[in-house]
Amino acid sequence: MTSTTGIPLADPELADRLTARLALVEERLRDAVAHADALADTASRHLVNAGGKRLRPLLTLLTAELGDGARREVLDAAVVVELTHLATLYHDDVMDSAPVRRGAPSAHEVWGNSVAILTGDLLFARASSTVAGLGPEAVRIQSATFERLCLGQLHETVGPRPDEDPVEHYLQVLADKTGSLIATSARLGAMFAGCPPQVVATVTAFGERIGTAFQLADDVIDLTSDGSVTGKTPGTDLREGVPTMPALLLRARAAGPDGTDDDRALVAMLDADLSGDAALERAVAALAVHPVVEKTRALSVEQTRAAVDELAPLPEGPVKEALVSFADLLVHRAS
Ligand code: IPE
Ligand code: IPE
Ligand code: MG
Ligand code: MG
Repeated sequence: MTSTTGIPLADPELADRLTARLALVEERLRDAVAHADALADTASRHLVNAGGKRLRPLLTLLTAELGDGARREVLDAAVVVELTHLATLYHDDVMDSAPVRRGAPSAHEVWGNSVAILTGDLLFARASSTVAGLGPEAVRIQSATFERLCLGQLHETVGPRPDEDPVEHYLQVLADKTGSLIATSARLGAMFAGCPPQVVATVTAFGERIGTAFQLADDVIDLTSDGSVTGKTPGTDLREGVPTMPALLLRARAAGPDGTDDDRALVAMLDADLSGDAALERAVAALAVHPVVEKTRALSVEQTRAAVDELAPLPEGPVKEALVSFADLLVHRAS
Protein backbone atom coordinates (compact mmCIF):
# COMPACT_ATOMS: atom_id res chain seq x y z
CA MET A 1 0.00 0.00 0.00
CA THR A 2 1.50 3.34 -1.08
CA SER A 3 0.17 6.79 -0.43
CA THR A 4 -0.13 9.99 -2.47
CA THR A 5 -1.07 13.14 -0.57
CA GLY A 6 -2.45 10.93 2.17
CA ILE A 7 -4.70 8.70 0.04
CA PRO A 8 -3.91 5.03 0.58
CA LEU A 9 -3.50 3.47 -2.88
CA ALA A 10 -3.37 -0.28 -3.39
CA ASP A 11 -1.95 0.06 -6.92
CA PRO A 12 1.71 1.20 -6.78
CA GLU A 13 1.73 2.17 -10.48
CA LEU A 14 -1.25 4.45 -9.97
CA ALA A 15 0.51 5.99 -6.96
CA ASP A 16 3.68 6.58 -8.99
CA ARG A 17 1.77 8.16 -11.87
CA LEU A 18 -0.17 10.48 -9.58
CA THR A 19 2.94 11.50 -7.67
CA ALA A 20 4.81 12.28 -10.90
CA ARG A 21 1.90 14.28 -12.32
CA LEU A 22 1.40 16.21 -9.09
CA ALA A 23 5.04 17.27 -9.35
CA LEU A 24 4.38 18.53 -12.90
CA VAL A 25 1.29 20.41 -11.71
CA GLU A 26 3.41 22.00 -8.98
CA GLU A 27 5.94 23.22 -11.54
CA ARG A 28 3.22 24.66 -13.77
CA LEU A 29 1.53 26.29 -10.79
CA ARG A 30 4.71 28.07 -9.80
CA ASP A 31 5.17 29.28 -13.41
CA ALA A 32 1.55 30.42 -13.51
CA VAL A 33 1.89 32.70 -10.46
CA ALA A 34 5.15 34.40 -11.55
CA HIS A 35 5.02 38.15 -12.27
CA ALA A 36 7.57 40.66 -13.50
CA ASP A 37 6.27 43.13 -10.91
CA ALA A 38 8.07 42.39 -7.61
CA LEU A 39 5.09 42.95 -5.28
CA ALA A 40 2.66 41.05 -7.52
CA ASP A 41 5.19 38.21 -7.70
CA THR A 42 5.83 37.97 -3.95
CA ALA A 43 2.19 38.34 -2.97
CA SER A 44 1.03 35.79 -5.58
CA ARG A 45 3.60 33.21 -4.51
CA HIS A 46 2.89 33.74 -0.82
CA LEU A 47 0.20 31.06 -0.40
CA VAL A 48 1.56 28.67 -3.04
CA ASN A 49 4.85 28.60 -1.15
CA ALA A 50 3.14 28.31 2.24
CA GLY A 51 1.86 24.81 1.41
CA GLY A 52 -1.70 23.50 1.17
CA LYS A 53 -3.03 20.03 0.50
CA ARG A 54 -3.53 20.38 -3.31
CA LEU A 55 -6.70 18.27 -2.99
CA ARG A 56 -8.43 19.80 -6.00
CA PRO A 57 -5.60 19.11 -8.50
CA LEU A 58 -5.23 15.65 -7.03
CA LEU A 59 -8.92 14.98 -7.68
CA THR A 60 -8.53 16.20 -11.27
CA LEU A 61 -5.61 13.83 -11.82
CA LEU A 62 -7.51 11.01 -10.17
CA THR A 63 -10.71 11.28 -12.26
CA ALA A 64 -8.51 11.62 -15.36
CA GLU A 65 -7.30 8.09 -14.61
CA LEU A 66 -10.72 6.93 -15.80
CA GLY A 67 -9.53 7.91 -19.30
CA ASP A 68 -6.21 9.03 -20.73
CA GLY A 69 -4.69 10.80 -17.72
CA ALA A 70 -1.43 11.53 -19.53
CA ARG A 71 -2.90 14.33 -21.69
CA ARG A 72 -1.40 17.81 -21.32
CA GLU A 73 -4.88 19.33 -20.92
CA VAL A 74 -5.40 17.34 -17.71
CA LEU A 75 -2.38 19.02 -16.11
CA ASP A 76 -3.62 22.44 -17.22
CA ALA A 77 -7.05 21.71 -15.77
CA ALA A 78 -5.41 20.73 -12.46
CA VAL A 79 -3.53 24.06 -12.44
CA VAL A 80 -6.75 25.99 -13.19
CA VAL A 81 -8.63 24.54 -10.22
CA GLU A 82 -5.80 25.20 -7.75
CA LEU A 83 -5.33 28.77 -9.06
CA THR A 84 -9.06 29.41 -8.69
CA HIS A 85 -8.97 27.98 -5.16
CA LEU A 86 -5.96 30.14 -4.29
CA ALA A 87 -7.70 33.28 -5.53
CA THR A 88 -10.69 32.54 -3.29
CA LEU A 89 -8.45 31.98 -0.24
CA TYR A 90 -6.97 35.50 -0.52
CA HIS A 91 -10.46 36.96 -0.71
CA ASP A 92 -11.94 34.70 1.96
CA ASP A 93 -9.26 35.62 4.49
CA VAL A 94 -10.08 39.31 4.03
CA MET A 95 -13.80 38.59 4.47
CA ASP A 96 -13.23 36.37 7.54
CA SER A 97 -10.44 38.56 9.02
CA ALA A 98 -8.39 35.35 9.27
CA PRO A 99 -4.91 36.04 10.65
CA VAL A 100 -3.25 32.81 9.49
CA ARG A 101 -3.52 30.58 6.38
CA ARG A 102 -1.45 27.51 5.53
CA GLY A 103 0.61 28.22 8.64
CA ALA A 104 1.69 31.63 7.33
CA PRO A 105 0.35 35.10 8.10
CA SER A 106 -2.54 35.72 5.70
CA ALA A 107 -1.84 38.10 2.82
CA HIS A 108 -3.93 40.94 4.25
CA GLU A 109 -1.93 40.74 7.50
CA VAL A 110 1.27 41.21 5.52
CA TRP A 111 0.24 43.71 2.82
CA GLY A 112 -3.21 44.98 3.83
CA ASN A 113 -6.68 44.31 2.40
CA SER A 114 -6.24 46.06 -0.94
CA VAL A 115 -3.13 44.12 -1.93
CA ALA A 116 -4.71 40.84 -0.75
CA ILE A 117 -7.86 41.45 -2.82
CA LEU A 118 -5.88 42.48 -5.89
CA THR A 119 -3.61 39.45 -5.56
CA GLY A 120 -6.67 37.22 -5.54
CA ASP A 121 -7.78 38.98 -8.72
CA LEU A 122 -4.35 38.48 -10.31
CA LEU A 123 -4.51 34.77 -9.55
CA PHE A 124 -7.96 34.60 -11.04
CA ALA A 125 -6.64 36.36 -14.17
CA ARG A 126 -3.96 33.66 -14.47
CA ALA A 127 -6.55 30.92 -13.98
CA SER A 128 -8.58 32.53 -16.80
CA SER A 129 -5.57 32.64 -19.08
CA THR A 130 -4.78 28.96 -18.45
CA VAL A 131 -8.39 27.86 -18.90
CA ALA A 132 -8.60 29.79 -22.19
CA GLY A 133 -6.08 27.30 -23.59
CA LEU A 134 -8.56 24.51 -22.81
CA GLY A 135 -11.31 25.93 -25.04
CA PRO A 136 -14.73 27.58 -24.69
CA GLU A 137 -16.45 24.67 -22.92
CA ALA A 138 -13.86 24.74 -20.13
CA VAL A 139 -14.13 28.56 -19.93
CA ARG A 140 -17.90 28.26 -19.57
CA ILE A 141 -17.56 25.64 -16.82
CA GLN A 142 -14.96 27.72 -15.00
CA SER A 143 -17.17 30.86 -15.17
CA ALA A 144 -20.25 29.04 -13.92
CA THR A 145 -18.19 27.56 -11.08
CA PHE A 146 -16.77 30.91 -10.04
CA GLU A 147 -20.23 32.45 -10.19
CA ARG A 148 -21.60 29.76 -7.85
CA LEU A 149 -18.60 30.17 -5.55
CA CYS A 150 -19.14 33.94 -5.28
CA LEU A 151 -22.88 33.49 -4.76
CA GLY A 152 -22.16 30.96 -1.99
CA GLN A 153 -19.87 33.44 -0.24
CA LEU A 154 -22.44 36.22 -0.81
CA HIS A 155 -25.32 34.18 0.62
CA GLU A 156 -23.17 33.18 3.60
CA THR A 157 -22.45 36.87 4.19
CA VAL A 158 -26.05 38.10 4.01
CA GLY A 159 -27.61 35.04 5.70
CA PRO A 160 -31.03 33.46 5.10
CA ARG A 161 -34.18 35.44 4.27
CA PRO A 162 -36.73 35.48 7.12
CA ASP A 163 -38.77 32.76 5.36
CA GLU A 164 -35.74 30.50 4.79
CA ASP A 165 -34.61 27.72 7.13
CA PRO A 166 -31.07 28.68 8.26
CA VAL A 167 -29.74 25.10 8.10
CA GLU A 168 -31.16 24.46 4.60
CA HIS A 169 -29.82 27.84 3.48
CA TYR A 170 -26.38 26.97 4.84
CA LEU A 171 -26.32 23.56 3.08
CA GLN A 172 -26.87 25.42 -0.19
CA VAL A 173 -24.08 27.86 0.77
CA LEU A 174 -21.71 24.91 1.34
CA ALA A 175 -22.58 23.32 -1.98
CA ASP A 176 -22.05 26.64 -3.78
CA LYS A 177 -18.95 27.99 -2.07
CA THR A 178 -17.07 24.67 -1.81
CA GLY A 179 -18.92 21.88 -3.64
CA SER A 180 -18.91 23.79 -6.94
CA LEU A 181 -15.12 23.92 -7.35
CA ILE A 182 -14.55 20.38 -6.08
CA ALA A 183 -17.21 19.15 -8.55
CA THR A 184 -15.45 21.05 -11.34
CA SER A 185 -12.08 19.59 -10.31
CA ALA A 186 -13.51 16.11 -10.78
CA ARG A 187 -15.36 17.07 -13.97
CA LEU A 188 -12.45 18.66 -15.84
CA GLY A 189 -10.18 15.68 -15.10
CA ALA A 190 -12.59 13.17 -16.64
CA MET A 191 -13.55 15.54 -19.47
CA PHE A 192 -9.99 16.24 -20.65
CA ALA A 193 -9.00 12.59 -20.28
CA GLY A 194 -11.61 11.88 -22.97
CA CYS A 195 -14.13 10.02 -20.77
CA PRO A 196 -17.69 9.55 -22.09
CA PRO A 197 -20.34 12.05 -20.88
CA GLN A 198 -21.92 9.60 -18.39
CA VAL A 199 -18.57 9.14 -16.62
CA VAL A 200 -18.03 12.92 -16.55
CA ALA A 201 -21.52 13.37 -15.05
CA THR A 202 -20.89 10.64 -12.45
CA VAL A 203 -17.66 12.14 -11.14
CA THR A 204 -19.17 15.64 -11.16
CA ALA A 205 -22.04 14.49 -8.92
CA PHE A 206 -19.48 12.73 -6.69
CA GLY A 207 -17.38 15.91 -6.45
CA GLU A 208 -20.35 18.09 -5.56
CA ARG A 209 -21.28 15.80 -2.65
CA ILE A 210 -17.75 15.32 -1.30
CA GLY A 211 -17.33 19.10 -1.49
CA THR A 212 -20.25 19.60 0.85
CA ALA A 213 -18.95 16.83 3.14
CA PHE A 214 -15.52 18.48 3.06
CA GLN A 215 -16.85 21.87 4.14
CA LEU A 216 -18.93 20.29 6.94
CA ALA A 217 -15.74 18.56 8.13
CA ASP A 218 -13.99 21.95 7.91
CA ASP A 219 -16.57 23.47 10.25
CA VAL A 220 -15.76 20.75 12.80
CA ILE A 221 -12.01 21.12 12.29
CA ASP A 222 -12.30 24.86 13.03
CA LEU A 223 -13.42 23.87 16.55
CA THR A 224 -11.56 20.66 17.28
CA SER A 225 -8.16 20.82 15.56
CA ASP A 226 -5.01 22.50 16.69
CA GLY A 227 -3.87 25.57 14.73
CA SER A 228 -0.42 24.00 14.32
CA VAL A 229 -2.05 21.14 12.38
CA THR A 230 -4.55 23.13 10.28
CA GLY A 231 -2.37 26.17 9.63
CA LYS A 232 -5.46 28.26 10.49
CA THR A 233 -6.56 29.97 13.72
CA PRO A 234 -9.22 27.89 15.54
CA GLY A 235 -12.51 29.71 16.06
CA THR A 236 -11.89 32.30 13.33
CA ASP A 237 -15.47 31.94 12.08
CA LEU A 238 -16.95 32.16 15.58
CA ARG A 239 -15.01 35.32 16.32
CA GLU A 240 -16.20 37.01 13.13
CA GLY A 241 -19.77 35.75 13.46
CA VAL A 242 -19.43 33.73 10.22
CA PRO A 243 -22.06 30.98 10.38
CA THR A 244 -20.92 27.37 10.65
CA MET A 245 -23.04 24.24 10.89
CA PRO A 246 -22.38 23.54 14.62
CA ALA A 247 -23.31 27.13 15.54
CA LEU A 248 -26.46 27.04 13.38
CA LEU A 249 -27.57 23.69 14.82
CA LEU A 250 -26.99 25.00 18.33
CA ARG A 251 -29.05 28.14 17.67
CA ALA A 252 -31.88 26.09 16.17
CA ARG A 253 -31.89 23.74 19.16
CA ALA A 254 -31.68 26.53 21.74
CA ALA A 255 -34.68 28.28 20.15
CA GLY A 256 -36.77 25.08 19.90
CA PRO A 257 -38.68 22.92 22.42
CA ASP A 258 -35.63 20.67 23.10
CA GLY A 259 -33.37 23.60 23.98
CA THR A 260 -31.87 23.50 27.50
CA ASP A 261 -30.60 26.32 29.71
CA ASP A 262 -27.08 25.11 28.89
CA ASP A 263 -27.77 25.47 25.15
CA ARG A 264 -29.05 29.01 25.63
CA ALA A 265 -26.07 29.88 27.84
CA LEU A 266 -23.75 28.65 25.09
CA VAL A 267 -25.56 30.78 22.47
CA ALA A 268 -25.12 33.79 24.77
CA MET A 269 -21.41 32.92 25.01
CA LEU A 270 -21.10 32.86 21.19
CA ASP A 271 -22.93 36.18 20.93
CA ALA A 272 -20.66 37.84 23.51
CA ASP A 273 -17.53 39.78 22.59
CA LEU A 274 -15.04 37.15 21.32
CA SER A 275 -12.29 39.56 20.36
CA GLY A 276 -10.14 38.51 23.36
CA ASP A 277 -8.18 35.26 23.01
CA ALA A 278 -9.33 33.84 26.36
CA ALA A 279 -13.04 34.43 25.57
CA LEU A 280 -12.63 32.84 22.13
CA GLU A 281 -10.80 29.82 23.54
CA ARG A 282 -13.55 29.29 26.12
CA ALA A 283 -16.28 29.52 23.46
CA VAL A 284 -14.43 27.14 21.11
CA ALA A 285 -13.85 24.64 23.93
CA ALA A 286 -17.50 24.75 25.05
CA LEU A 287 -18.93 24.36 21.55
CA ALA A 288 -16.42 21.64 20.62
CA VAL A 289 -17.88 19.23 23.20
CA HIS A 290 -21.53 20.01 22.44
CA PRO A 291 -23.51 17.23 20.65
CA VAL A 292 -24.08 19.57 17.64
CA VAL A 293 -20.45 18.93 16.67
CA GLU A 294 -21.11 15.18 16.55
CA LYS A 295 -24.26 15.92 14.55
CA THR A 296 -22.22 17.98 12.04
CA ARG A 297 -19.73 15.11 11.76
CA ALA A 298 -22.62 12.73 11.11
CA LEU A 299 -23.97 15.02 8.36
CA SER A 300 -20.52 15.04 6.77
CA VAL A 301 -20.30 11.23 6.87
CA GLU A 302 -23.83 11.00 5.41
CA GLN A 303 -22.85 13.24 2.47
CA THR A 304 -19.70 11.17 1.92
CA ARG A 305 -21.76 7.96 1.77
CA ALA A 306 -24.09 9.59 -0.75
CA ALA A 307 -21.01 10.67 -2.75
CA VAL A 308 -19.65 7.12 -2.81
CA ASP A 309 -23.08 5.85 -3.92
CA GLU A 310 -22.81 8.20 -6.92
CA LEU A 311 -19.78 6.17 -8.06
CA ALA A 312 -21.89 3.00 -8.56
CA PRO A 313 -21.93 3.23 -12.40
CA LEU A 314 -18.09 3.26 -12.59
CA PRO A 315 -16.26 -0.01 -13.24
CA GLU A 316 -14.67 -1.64 -10.18
CA GLY A 317 -10.92 -1.21 -10.01
CA PRO A 318 -8.05 0.79 -8.50
CA VAL A 319 -9.31 4.20 -9.68
CA LYS A 320 -12.74 3.75 -8.14
CA GLU A 321 -11.09 2.48 -4.94
CA ALA A 322 -8.87 5.55 -4.93
CA LEU A 323 -11.89 7.85 -5.31
CA VAL A 324 -13.52 6.15 -2.30
CA SER A 325 -10.30 6.60 -0.30
CA PHE A 326 -10.19 10.24 -1.39
CA ALA A 327 -13.74 10.75 -0.08
CA ASP A 328 -12.77 9.14 3.25
CA LEU A 329 -9.69 11.32 3.52
CA LEU A 330 -11.73 14.50 3.05
CA VAL A 331 -14.11 13.71 5.83
CA HIS A 332 -11.73 12.11 8.35
CA ARG A 333 -8.87 14.59 7.92
CA ALA A 334 -7.46 16.62 10.80
CA SER A 335 -6.29 19.58 8.70
C1 IPE B 1 -9.83 25.58 2.47
O1 IPE B 1 -9.61 24.56 1.57
C2 IPE B 1 -11.09 26.29 2.08
C3 IPE B 1 -12.26 25.45 2.18
C4 IPE B 1 -13.06 25.28 1.18
C5 IPE B 1 -12.58 24.81 3.45
P1 IPE B 1 -8.47 23.48 1.82
O2 IPE B 1 -8.65 22.86 3.17
O3 IPE B 1 -8.42 22.56 0.66
O4 IPE B 1 -7.18 24.39 1.87
P2 IPE B 1 -5.68 24.11 1.43
O5 IPE B 1 -5.65 24.21 -0.05
O6 IPE B 1 -5.27 22.74 1.91
O7 IPE B 1 -4.90 25.20 2.10
C1 IPE C 1 -14.02 29.07 2.50
O1 IPE C 1 -14.84 28.74 3.54
C2 IPE C 1 -14.63 28.65 1.24
C3 IPE C 1 -14.07 29.33 0.07
C4 IPE C 1 -14.75 29.37 -1.00
C5 IPE C 1 -12.74 29.94 0.10
P1 IPE C 1 -14.26 29.00 5.01
O2 IPE C 1 -14.14 30.45 5.27
O3 IPE C 1 -15.04 28.20 5.98
O4 IPE C 1 -12.83 28.31 4.85
P2 IPE C 1 -11.56 28.47 5.76
O5 IPE C 1 -11.88 27.82 7.07
O6 IPE C 1 -11.30 29.92 5.88
O7 IPE C 1 -10.48 27.71 5.04
MG1 MG D 1 -12.48 31.51 5.97
MG1 MG E 1 -15.31 32.06 4.78
